[in-house]
Amino acid sequence: MGAAVQVNAPAEQSALIGASLELAAERGGDLTAAVYARLFRERPELEPLFVMDTDAAVRGEMLARAFDAILDFVGERAYAGHLIGAEATNHEGYLVPREAFASFFAIMRDVVQDACGAGWSEDMADAWRATLAELHHYVAAG
Ligand code: HEM
Repeated sequence: MGAAVQVNAPAEQSALIGASLELAAERGGDLTAAVYARLFRERPELEPLFVMDTDAAVRGEMLARAFDAILDFVGERAYAGHLIGAEATNHEGYLVPREAFASFFAIMRDVVQDACGAGWSEDMADAWRATLAELHHYVAAG
C-alpha cells in the first residue's frame, strides 16, 4: 500500500467512532446477533455461506476482527489497510463479492447506530460516513 493513502484518520473522527462503539456496547451488549440478522435480511444470498458455522464461532470471530480493524483503521492504522485489502481478496475465494464485503462495514454502522439510540449524533454519522468511504478504497485496491 503506497504511503500516499496511509494517512491516519483525523483524531476527532477516531474519537467519534470509538465513542459510538463504546456507547453501542454499553446499550446493546454483544451486537453479533443483530449484525448477522441485518446482513441476512439485506443480503439473504449470503446466509448459506455460513451453514458450516453451526455454533456461530466464525461469525463472532469475523465480526470481532472487523471491529478491531475499524478501530485500528481510525487509530494508528498499524495493519487495517493491509488486512482489509487482503481479506477482500480472500473473501472472493469464499464467493463474497467485493461490494458485499464492503457492505458489511455499512451494516456494522447501521447496527451501531441502532444500538446507540438517542445517543447517536450527527457527528458520529459524519465520522462513520467518512470512514466507510475511505474503507471502500482499501476494499477496491486489495
Ligand atoms: C458480507 C460480507 C462478508 C461475508 C459474507 C463473509 C463471509 C465469511 C465466511 C463464510 C468466512 C468463513 C470462511 C471459512 O472458514 O471457510 C469468513 C471468514 C473470515 N472473515 Fe468474512 N465475510 C464478510 C466480510 C468480512 C469483513 C468485512 C471482514 C473484515 C475484517 C472479514 C473478516 C474475516 C476473517 C478475518 C475471517 C477468518 C478467515 C480468514 O482469514 O479469511 N469478513 N468470512
